[in-house]
Amino acid sequence: MLNLNQQFDLIRQSATVAMADRILALKAGGRNIVGLQVGDPDFGTHPAIIESALKAMQDGQTHYGPSVGTMELRRAIATKLQRDEGVEYDPASEILVTHGGIHAYYTAMQSILNPGDDVLVPDPSWATHSNMTIMLRGNVIRVPAPAESGFIPQFESWLKALTPKTRAIVLNYPSNPTGAFPSREYLTKLHEFAKEHHLWVVSDEVYGSLYFEGKPTSAAAIEGAKERTLLVNSLSKSYAMTGWRVGFLAAPAQVIQNALKAGQNSITCVAPFIQKAAAFALTDPQIQQVTADMRAAYSRRRQLVLRLSHELECEKVRVVPPQGAFYFFLDMRALNMSSVEMCERILDEEGVGLVPGSAFGEQGEGFIRMVISASDEDVEAGFRKIVKWAENVQR
Ligand SMILES: Cc1ncc(COP(=O)(O)O)c(C=O)c1O
Repeated sequence: MLNLNQQFDLIRQSATVAMADRILALKAGGRNIVGLQVGDPDFGTHPAIIESALKAMQDGQTHYGPSVGTMELRRAIATKLQRDEGVEYDPASEILVTHGGIHAYYTAMQSILNPGDDVLVPDPSWATHSNMTIMLRGNVIRVPAPAESGFIPQFESWLKALTPKTRAIVLNYPSNPTGAFPSREYLTKLHEFAKEHHLWVVSDEVYGSLYFEGKPTSAAAIEGAKERTLLVNSLSKSYAMTGWRVGFLAAPAQVIQNALKAGQNSITCVAPFIQKAAAFALTDPQIQQVTADMRAAYSRRRQLVLRLSHELECEKVRVVPPQGAFYFFLDMRALNMSSVEMCERILDEEGVGLVPGSAFGEQGEGFIRMVISASDEDVEAGFRKIVKWAENVQR
């Protein structure tokens, strides 16, 4: 009998994958599906970014590059962090270029965790935040972030979850799946908590550029917080570059030294022509305007859903206005049905693809995640169908 890595027994195959398979099967059978399940911008990557990568390929940037990332891109990242978050990073020692945000998160966790360390992860949150910790033989302790507290953990909950083995807390604001983010005051208090208990703060800010009424504060921007903060970010969502697989970790130099070893020994480097295009995207003024335009489009769709929700007055589909990212986490607890059953039935009966809230943790049970990174028409049609289904559902 050959042995397998038993850590993977602890990771549930995500409900998102099962839903995606079901949607593909329905589409293959000729069914028209309104796809509101994938967290991927519906905008194309701007042609000038594509042009920049093509030119770099033609110029011969098709070989290995430095594992830590090109100096040009690390400087561009430092410029972005200073410009957008008001935090200074040294491109020579505090930045690592990664294969997207997910790989930045991997290198971050790999750099700080020892087997058996406890990690506090809010519930609900993107499944990888927990799964990666488990893969690295850490223990996940979920910290409830229920709808009733605006999807942000109350301070008592952090304290209650704390153990002598806790080494890190994971933040993701604006959040996937809720779109919530905390105030600067909250982050300041959380920083005090982290400092008092000698905890790292791993802050996944991949949706940091996508916000509506106010701008979120970066966890690293809190006074004194930078030395214990590991910033995870990428170009995927903010520049509509999910398929390019480029992101970065910004962290204290000793963390980056470990993270570089994790990068060197897992991906070697991010393709140099992609790094060239990423540096262009992060710094070109016209491209920053493109990001602002995308933000405006998500904001328009958010307003559309809020207006529809007001008009349709459906008590079974309660809408909490997201503050950022491109998701609505619809509260359908009034139906008293599991989120998986709701999503399966809405898909089969109304042809709308969604993600069950339970895929993000226990606190997500009774919720469903709907994206607004789809056309205005699809967002409107999908939301109307969800409401119609909820009004008429037979059990
Ligand atoms: C919260 C969060 N972090 C990270 C990622 C991964 O982003 P990337 O495409 O940059 O790896 C996602 C993707 O959905 C996400 O939702």
